[in-house]
Amino acid sequence: MSRDLKHFLDLDAFDKDVLRQILDLGHALKSGNANDYGNAPLAGKTLAMIFEKPSTRTRVSFEVGMRQLGGEVVMMSSNDTQLGQGETVADTARVLSRFVDAIMVRTDDPAKLQELSVYASVPVINGLTDLTHPCQIMADIMTFEQHRGPIAGKTIAWTGDGNNVSNSFIQAAALFDFSLRLACPDSLRPNSDILKWAIDAGADITVTDDPTLAVENADCVVTDTWVSMHQDRGDRVDVLTPYRVTEALMGHAADDALFMHCLPAHRGEEVVDAVMDGQWSVVWDESENRLHAQKGILLWSLG
Ligand code: CP
Ligand code: NVA
Repeated sequence: MSRDLKHFLDLDAFDKDVLRQILDLGHALKSGNANDYGNAPLAGKTLAMIFEKPSTRTRVSFEVGMRQLGGEVVMMSSNDTQLGQGETVADTARVLSRFVDAIMVRTDDPAKLQELSVYASVPVINGLTDLTHPCQIMADIMTFEQHRGPIAGKTIAWTGDGNNVSNSFIQAAALFDFSLRLACPDSLRPNSDILKWAIDAGADITVTDDPTLAVENADCVVTDTWVSMHQDRGDRVDVLTPYRVTEALMGHAADDALFMHCLPAHRGEEVVDAVMDGQWSVVWDESENRLHAQKGILLWSLG
């Protein structure tokens, strides 16, 4: 049913040139150089946004982005829709497709995202699952390139939990040709299937348990919360404390290294204030770039 639809599910589904084209569209929209699209390219189009988990950035950036492109949004949270009362994902997909032109979903199980894309007859966009967060990584690459030019050939270091955001970074390393060094405790490594896919695709990826090794001379250091929305704290804070991004750790990175965090940050846990608010930090640009990168995704999907 959905074979020809332009879903944005995960980065590994894309050819390099298509992903680059989407990102370049985001860059062009941001700098006001996408005149071919006119003032309201998505006029008359509606995006449904399903949130089964909390969100600040994803919700606001998609809503504002859609409006800036001339379109409309419908917000749905699992608490106040029939999806939260047991209506199936497949039936929800069939019904929403009769009303809207695209569906963005934030959910737990990546199987639900896949199911939605199978039964929807409109494009589906991944707004985060427990496994991946591809829209975030498009914004992260845009942010790196805004400050440092093309990301190809650069070295990005991830330190902390091997979580959904790190998984999408791993996929991106294969598609945007940057080196990725991940420092994670043995018990909290990224998804092994995703790692295997990226390495088989030719990505230059190193996984270590040593944050200093990962960060050495890196062009950018990235981290994320130690306790994602689907996780219990358990002993995570103890296990992850050596992976905290401090000024001392940033001292091992390249002299002009950037610091990124998808936010929300837990200051004093995965990153200290001196780094969040320090000379390395581009986290506010990174947050803003969710808007521009996603406008590129929306135009590609719906335009
Ligand atoms: N980074 C991110 O996706 O933030 P929200 O959870 O606020 O959407
Ligand atoms: N890893 C985090 C990202 C939040 C945007 C989570 O899943 O909660």
